Amino acid sequence: MSAEYPLFALSEEHQEIRKAIREICDAKIAPAAAAVDEEARYPQEAHDALVETEFFAPHVPEAYGGVGADALATVLVIEEVARADVSASLIPAVNKLGSLPVQIGGSEELKKKYLGKLAAGEGNFSYCLSEPDAGSDAANQKTRAVRDGDGWVLNGVKRWITNAGVSEYYTVLAMTDPEKRSKGISAFVVEKSDEGVSFGAPEKKLGIKGSPTREVYFDNVRIPADRIIGEEGKGFTYAMQTLDHTRITIAAQAVGVAQGALDYALEYIKERKQFGKPIAEFQGLEFMVADMGMKIEAARQLTYAAAGRSERGDKDLTFFGAAAKAFASDVAMQVTTDAVQLLGGYGFTRDYPVERMMRDAKITQIYEGTNQVQRIVMARQLLAGIQS
Ligand code: CAA
Repeated sequence: MSAEYPLFALSEEHQEIRKAIREICDAKIAPAAAAVDEEARYPQEAHDALVETEFFAPHVPEAYGGVGADALATVLVIEEVARADVSASLIPAVNKLGSLPVQIGGSEELKKKYLGKLAAGEGNFSYCLSEPDAGSDAANQKTRAVRDGDGWVLNGVKRWITNAGVSEYYTVLAMTDPEKRSKGISAFVVEKSDEGVSFGAPEKKLGIKGSPTREVYFDNVRIPADRIIGEEGKGFTYAMQTLDHTRITIAAQAVGVAQGALDYALEYIKERKQFGKPIAEFQGLEFMVADMGMKIEAARQLTYAAAGRSERGDKDLTFFGAAAKAFASDVAMQVTTDAVQLLGGYGFTRDYPVERMMRDAKITQIYEGTNQVQRIVMARQLLAGIQS
């Protein structure tokens, strides 16, 4: 009977996926994580390993040349990679973020072309929504796209673009009708090689140093008409729908980095002796690790429940995506900070991985919408009566 009662249990297939990606992380991704952070360099070894094993953009449907991982399988991949190195987890996560508008709204031709290239590992996909004056207020777009003959011409600046410069493909939100605010925004695919595309210097960040964050400039970038994603004026809707699904991948990063920090701290406190015994035997520390494990498990369950909503497209997905992201990222910050505390002075040095995990965790409270924006999103859903 128990085997036939799947509620809150991973299927055998999902368990296999977790095992497979963990093996890759242990062998290829975790050993490079400290150097990637120290040198603030793109984790090329993780990139190559993910391409080789088809975990580079696992969400791409089989119809477009991908492996067709469902939302939960994609979460498991990102969680496991983040447990080893959050910077590397941004490869599959941002490939989903960048390409999902195409999957949601794009024409069959656009999907075949760009999802196919992504699935084949020909290039990463980035998401260009934020601008210097359009952060939380995402509808305040200044980038312009103007029709010109049989194409579009783009001008503007995007800021905080993850994997900018590394990525070959970019989903770009741009104003096509400024009078209409959010209903005047359209989405386009722009390639790195398009004339007039250039990049700012990499930002000097607190964490996720292996994932380049740069400005992207569009200077009279001319693209063919068929690079518009879906309908003109629907770009903001595609962008928001995308975030409903991908905020869950940020929750997955948060769960992963928190688990990585707890795993390391558990081993450490069993080894470290003070007052003649392992410090794990002191109840004050036992209470700390118990709280850490409890919070991680609550965050994980909410994240997996949200992934289920994403896969089914339930009406309460918007609430669950925001809730999972906000809850799990707060847990990640608490747990990684406690892991540093458990290691004491050693935890505060770069000789141990937990300070990197604490620095990497911080961004999960900020990107894909700050946790304050998530609360706006959740409150609007509750007030509209949309929650299970
Ligand atoms: N699904 C479908 N449609 C949606 C939607 C959703 N989840 N959310 C909004 N819309 C629609 C609305 O229905 C509305 O259309 P109607 O008028 O027809 O109803 C339209 O979009 C405008 O919506 P709002 O009036 O709610 O828009 P707003 O200006 O009040 O903004 C907001 C709402 C929630 C604050 C939004 O701006 C937001 O999410 N801000 C945060 C932006 C963000 O998350 N940025 C992350 C950048 S990406 C990044 O960080 C990733 C990275 O690099 C790793």
